[in-house]
Amino acid sequence: MSDETLPPKLWAGRFTESTDALVERFTESVSVDHRFAKHDIRGSIAHATMLAEVGVLSEADRDVIVSGLEAILADIEAGDFEWRVSLEDVHMNVESVLTERIGDAGKRLHTGRSRNDQVATGVRLFLREALDDIAGAIRALQDVILAIAEREAGTVMPGFTHLQPAQPITFGHHMLAWFEMLDRDAERLAECRRRVNRLPLGSAALAGTPYPIDRAMTARLLGFEGLCENSLDAVSDRDFAIEFVSDCALAMVHLSRMSEELVLWVSAPFGFVELGDAWCTGSSIMPQKKNPDVPELVRGKSARVIGHLNALLVLMKGQPLAYNRDNQEDKAPLFDTVDTVTDCLRVFAAMLGTLECRRERMREAARLGCMTATDLADYLVRKAVPFRDAHDVVGRAVRRAVETGRDLSEMALDELRAFSPVIESDVFEVLTLEGSVAARDHPGGTAPARVRAAAARAKARLGSPGTPRGRC
Ligand code: ARG
Repeated sequence: MSDETLPPKLWAGRFTESTDALVERFTESVSVDHRFAKHDIRGSIAHATMLAEVGVLSEADRDVIVSGLEAILADIEAGDFEWRVSLEDVHMNVESVLTERIGDAGKRLHTGRSRNDQVATGVRLFLREALDDIAGAIRALQDVILAIAEREAGTVMPGFTHLQPAQPITFGHHMLAWFEMLDRDAERLAECRRRVNRLPLGSAALAGTPYPIDRAMTARLLGFEGLCENSLDAVSDRDFAIEFVSDCALAMVHLSRMSEELVLWVSAPFGFVELGDAWCTGSSIMPQKKNPDVPELVRGKSARVIGHLNALLVLMKGQPLAYNRDNQEDKAPLFDTVDTVTDCLRVFAAMLGTLECRRERMREAARLGCMTATDLADYLVRKAVPFRDAHDVVGRAVRRAVETGRDLSEMALDELRAFSPVIESDVFEVLTLEGSVAARDHPGGTAPARVRAAAARAKARLGSPGTPRGRC
């Protein structure tokens, strides 16, 4: 950013004093919004093209504007463009340099347009691209999760409620739960994209413009699916940004919950999984440590995105129609949301690619929790014992198992029969971990065959997005 040569401000005509240096610094946004110069320029090219089509701009002017803007974009991308804080924002920086380079035609670009509809258009184009990148990153993470689910479809682990061992499940089943969380995130973001992908241009400052513009043409040129219907709403609406950050905040909450599980699973008392050394860090004092800093940081970074959602909601809540300068504050949280979510998704996918299950540890932990207690109760129910009575009988059997440091499956038949005479030797089929998981044999259940089938369905869904889910 530089201020050495100061071109005139584009709105200087009405003013007799130059802007106070502090105001200039306080109101500038170019230090942040230069990031979406590409989208701003794309919007300007479409606007100029449409103006020429409807006869507001000559074809000669259009041609120099378009090639001038393309040259500016090339310079920006090559790092050869000098951003000037005195020109406030990305829009006026680009327009000013365009006029410096091509003369009067540059001054005609802003015909029938305002920065208010210009910025709304640029932000929407930026977000649409970000949404596509994020959709790809979610998908890539889902691919990795699916591969683990398939590999570990038969790996028994303890399933928890209240973080207490509850019932045996398979690790593959657990992975598919993560998959579903991400699938809803992808679905939400795809819906959000539809609302992002509408054209504000043509609304001008707030009321529209007297020029015979063709908004449908501008929309087509920019790949928008429709128009923002009301000019006042078009320049003031940031719902699409709030919705985007809200969907991202929820995705980050999901990543944070997954991170929390990883942190627990790699801890010594659990020891369920191992992450590659390249994905962990050491301690400067304790030589034995291998810390899961990456999932911890993903968990930590969820706080930023949740904060950005709050910031955007509060930014909007007091604004009367139509555009207010408050809206300039939307960029920093939006950009940081895009960066944080994209980074976290990518890091997570690469890190999970190194995950190895310590199957014996999981099995051991599953064995020690008396987790087939519900299976024993169900067994008694099948032998005509009312469920409440069965629950009580099993509770007493569990107390005995815990007191003697054993699992239910390790108790002798006679011992078990002391709690209920209907228990017979076939009880051991339901008391084993494999028997317990295999019995949950319905769609959505943890039986290994069901997990494999669910993984296959999930894979097909990923292959053709839009496939309905949850069909019977
Ligand atoms: N930099 C401004 C923003 O981000 C652009 C729009 C300025 N409009 C205005 N009327 N001052 O919102």
